[in-house]
Amino acid sequence: MKICLIGGGTMGEAIIDCLLTKKVTKKEDIIVSDISQTRLDVLSSKYGVRVQAESKKATEETDLILLAVKPQNLKSVTKDIGNLSPNQLVLSIMAGTNISTLHSNLNHPCIIRAMPNMPAQIGEGIIVWTATVKVNRNQKDMAQTIFKALGEEIYVDDEKYIDMATALSGSGPAYVFLFIEALIDAGVHIGLPRDTAQKLVIETVTGSTHTVQKTGKHPAELRNMVTSPGGTTTDALFSLEKGRFRSLLVEAVAAAYNKARKL
Ligand SMILES: NC(=O)c1ccc[n+]([C@@H]2O[C@H](COP(=O)([O-])OP(=O)(O)OC[C@H]3O[C@@H](n4cnc5c(N)ncnc54)[C@H](OP(=O)(O)O)[C@@H]3O)[C@@H](O)[C@H]2O)c1
Repeated sequence: MKICLIGGGTMGEAIIDCLLTKKVTKKEDIIVSDISQTRLDVLSSKYGVRVQAESKKATEETDLILLAVKPQNLKSVTKDIGNLSPNQLVLSIMAGTNISTLHSNLNHPCIIRAMPNMPAQIGEGIIVWTATVKVNRNQKDMAQTIFKALGEEIYVDDEKYIDMATALSGSGPAYVFLFIEALIDAGVHIGLPRDTAQKLVIETVTGSTHTVQKTGKHPAELRNMVTSPGGTTTDALFSLEKGRFRSLLVEAVAAAYNKARKL
């Protein structure tokens, strides 16, 4: 599979790294175009991938064009790459840029829209994706191979779920990082050394996540298992519920979803 990456920034580099580390494709089969010559030099020397300052040239003879630029750069990218050949697949990871915008800008019907999240940078992301009817089985397989290098993937047959996933798993790492940060501070507040609090919190979050995955039990059932009647945990949970922890999360995700639909 010959891949052309338009945009060699944070996500572009993460994708290159995962594709090469997981041996999904050879470095000679990746070509990157970016408006920054410095970025191209970095990517070429660090990964040995091909680089090309002219986007149009970079797209030539590639099966898949992966758009990893900021949404506001779509117009200039469209101008740069011009018309694509009908058998080329466009894969966009741009947040909030829907398929109809991509279709009308690029004048190209064969599109996959995907929403990765930040842990994809270390191959542990979750990617939600959908495809237009013009995308064939072979092209879907190609895209899936890329997504699997970045973590887990979920196909959805309706684009509306991509905006919902943007609010949940796309922005999700920020919610989890805030939770981790606040919990560490809470440990420090009651007197734990910061490095001890940090280790305790990270292992608690990691271990709890793995417990949900490995047992397959509902989180509420697992929570009940660590909440003894009249014990310490129930006092803590009561404080969280009194502070609207649960409904605040719902409001936060709904706010992100409303914003994603307006982008
Ligand atoms: N970062 C994440 O965790 C994450 C998660 C999910 C989705 N996304 C999506 O992924 C996309 C890329 O995000 P990012 O964080 O990788 O952004 P980024 O670090 O800014 O990378 C984008 C790169 O594209 C370059 N560029 C701008 N215009 C271009 C053009 N016309 N042709 C070629 N290259 C061009 C930029 O150069 P300049 O910097 O010089 O403009 C930059 O090097 C965004 O649409 C974002 O919504 C990101």
